Amino acid sequence: MICWDPIDIYTDNPYQVVIGKGVSALLASFVDGSEQVAIICSDQLRKRALDVARSLPERVTLVEVPDAEAGKTAQVLQDCWAMLADAGFTRSDAVVGLGGGATTDLAGFVAATWLRGVRYIAMPTTVLGMVDAAVGGKTGINLPAGKNLVGAFYEPYTVLGEIDFLDTLPERDWKSGFAEVLKAGFICDPAILELFCADPSDALGGGSSGALIHKAVSVKAKVVSEDFREQGSESGGIGRAALNYGHTLGHAIERRQGFAWRHGEAVSIGMVFAAEVALRLGLIDAELVDRHRSVLRAAGLPVSYAESGWEELRDAMSLDKKARGRQLRFVLLHGLAAPQIFFDPPERVPQEAFRAIGGTD
Ligand code: GLY
Repeated sequence: MICWDPIDIYTDNPYQVVIGKGVSALLASFVDGSEQVAIICSDQLRKRALDVARSLPERVTLVEVPDAEAGKTAQVLQDCWAMLADAGFTRSDAVVGLGGGATTDLAGFVAATWLRGVRYIAMPTTVLGMVDAAVGGKTGINLPAGKNLVGAFYEPYTVLGEIDFLDTLPERDWKSGFAEVLKAGFICDPAILELFCADPSDALGGGSSGALIHKAVSVKAKVVSEDFREQGSESGGIGRAALNYGHTLGHAIERRQGFAWRHGEAVSIGMVFAAEVALRLGLIDAELVDRHRSVLRAAGLPVSYAESGWEELRDAMSLDKKARGRQLRFVLLHGLAAPQIFFDPPERVPQEAFRAIGGTD
């Protein structure tokens, strides 16, 4: 087993994220003491889930759910509860979530709600899941009225980030996941940007990918430890909101594209847009804006968007669940690794920034 230092997340119920090659073998020790285990997995990962199940001495129930967002529904949640009921699942049993971010969001919520909370172990199988969804304790499902409208903050018992699970990850998903890795570089740890730029192709699935994922998770751990429930940091920083860098426009683009794009593709464009907004507000210089473009391009991510007009996206941005009315709320940088929240810039500023990323009026 090759394993980086476990990363501590300090909350009321502290836990660790373990990143490495071969770390899935640690699952047996983390479910020890349970009589049975439910592995909630994406239906695309049946074989992997069976391999994991065979490594456990406990009775295992495999709960296959539709892949990606199709699995994050109230109906699927109810089906999971029904399977736990059939299996006679008790409070001392354990739920494992195996899959991408949508699957671990669902599995974490199943664990949070079954008998008011049972042990939950997240085993993300995508870069995006490892560096974002599976590590921060946000769990939940979508409703027809919007994404993530029902959920809970619920700490996992542990998160096992098995780098070997990424062997079969499609190239497009590597790139998408790296948008969040690079975001961690821009908002907190410039060493990520340096290590990535030293050899981008090695980072995307090669020898440095594990180290970069570990660094990005360390950034998320630091932010989440300061502000688990997203109420703002006690030390006066912006807390967990920093993780939304690039997400105001990113979410609007995802909605506009009917969720057919990868999350990281939309966030990549959103970060360049946020940098262009910050430039116009005098918060950062043109060199840092250019750095956004060059780093994200090197990851094969899009940095421009010309598929809809400003008004349509502006409306979608104020639909964001964290916006109020027509108000716009951005996470902007006022320097590298220095994020801040900015409310309602003069209307022409985001509009000009939108033009700068290729958009039309
Ligand atoms: N993905 C944003 C957060 O975990 O807060």
